[in-house]
Amino acid sequence: MRTQVAIIGSGPAGLLLGQLLHRAGVESVILERRSKDYVLSRIRAGVLEQGTTDLLSKVGVDARLKAEGLPHEGFAIGFANRRQRIDLKDLTGQCVTVYGQTEVTRDLMAAREAAGLTTVYEAEGVSLDAFDGASPRVHWTKDGRAHDLACDFIAGCDGFHGVSRASAPAGALETFERVYPFGWLGVLADVPPCSHELIYAGHDRGFALCSMRSPTRSRYYIQCGSDERVENWSDDRFWDELRHRLDPDAAANVVTGPSIEKSIAPLRSFVAEPLRFGRLFLAGDAAHIVPPTGAKGLNLAASDVHYLSEALIERYADRSEAGLDAYSGRALARIWKSERFSWWMTSLLHRFADQNAFERRMQEAEFIYLEESRAARTSLAENYVGLPY
Ligand code: APR
Ligand code: PHB
Repeated sequence: MRTQVAIIGSGPAGLLLGQLLHRAGVESVILERRSKDYVLSRIRAGVLEQGTTDLLSKVGVDARLKAEGLPHEGFAIGFANRRQRIDLKDLTGQCVTVYGQTEVTRDLMAAREAAGLTTVYEAEGVSLDAFDGASPRVHWTKDGRAHDLACDFIAGCDGFHGVSRASAPAGALETFERVYPFGWLGVLADVPPCSHELIYAGHDRGFALCSMRSPTRSRYYIQCGSDERVENWSDDRFWDELRHRLDPDAAANVVTGPSIEKSIAPLRSFVAEPLRFGRLFLAGDAAHIVPPTGAKGLNLAASDVHYLSEALIERYADRSEAGLDAYSGRALARIWKSERFSWWMTSLLHRFADQNAFERRMQEAEFIYLEESRAARTSLAENYVGLPY
């Protein structure tokens, strides 16, 4: 088997890269460790920057997004029972779209299938070979049989636990990391959202987030201990704790109901440098992780593959490697800015166990500054809607 670009991982990064390349006539094969159903069962964030929706439109995968995505012109930040609105539209002229990452993945998979492009699901033991030379190869087994793919380039889009970053030559990779001493307990429920816009709430008992998937489906999160177990959280306990952490208005509007998904995710900031090792390129969660506060994970994966697709397309169209040489630097420049924003928003809104009274007052002062300063709100808003590519 032979292709131009071997893509490892069929998350949003790998799938969007495949569509961007296909549009420009560049071939790809995607190798995915899991089954299609497994990939589609993962519930993740749901706020798309304009840049991300533009990319989905560019590849023609925006019909359902346009029909079902919810345009949001603002969101709210709460602190100690107060709430202020961040008017994204007024502050930046842009808005965001609430549309689940799982649905983005589903739409991209459908487009890939419709175009007759190859994805190998349940590819076990994927290994990357000879990417330091001109003829990289990828090996895997499926149904007990060994397979081999020759390619020009490998795109490592296989998430934080994937094989691509782990394949970088020893000593070539530098990593930067912060693990936060808490997680998010998330609940999905078929109940109307408590507010028509998202609410990010800092509270003495810990952070809470009110989000949604549709006018009849809500997504809520509360900060919890890193060692917390989901079995210890009945639906009733979750709803009680959520209402405690919201301002009285929002709390009164929470409609409760049985959860249809409940899970705990750890919070981490992580960046690997560089993003290129010969003919292997990293993109998306394979290269970096942001904590979910600010919903940058998927959007950052989208900007990475925007840069990477441009570079690969230029290589095939003009035989120029300039874009490929610049990829790591261009992508990392935007990655670090999103890392900063996600870290800042996480630090502003969460309760840290070792936090003293001074640090708590600093969070409060930051919140008041946002209330009083349009410049401060504009800074928050321009990062939330997404910095330019
Ligand atoms: N071989 C093949 N595929 C693999 C391997 C492997 N060794 N390891 C992981 N994968 C697959 C995973 O099963 C997953 O489907 O790679 C895919 C990576 O997808 P994501 O984790 O969704 O990462 P990415 O596409 O970069 O999307 C980033 O997803 O994780 C969220 O918060 C994150 O929103 C962000 C977005
Ligand atoms: C979500 O809807 O799942 C969501 C929204 C915003 C975030 C994180 C997650 O910042």
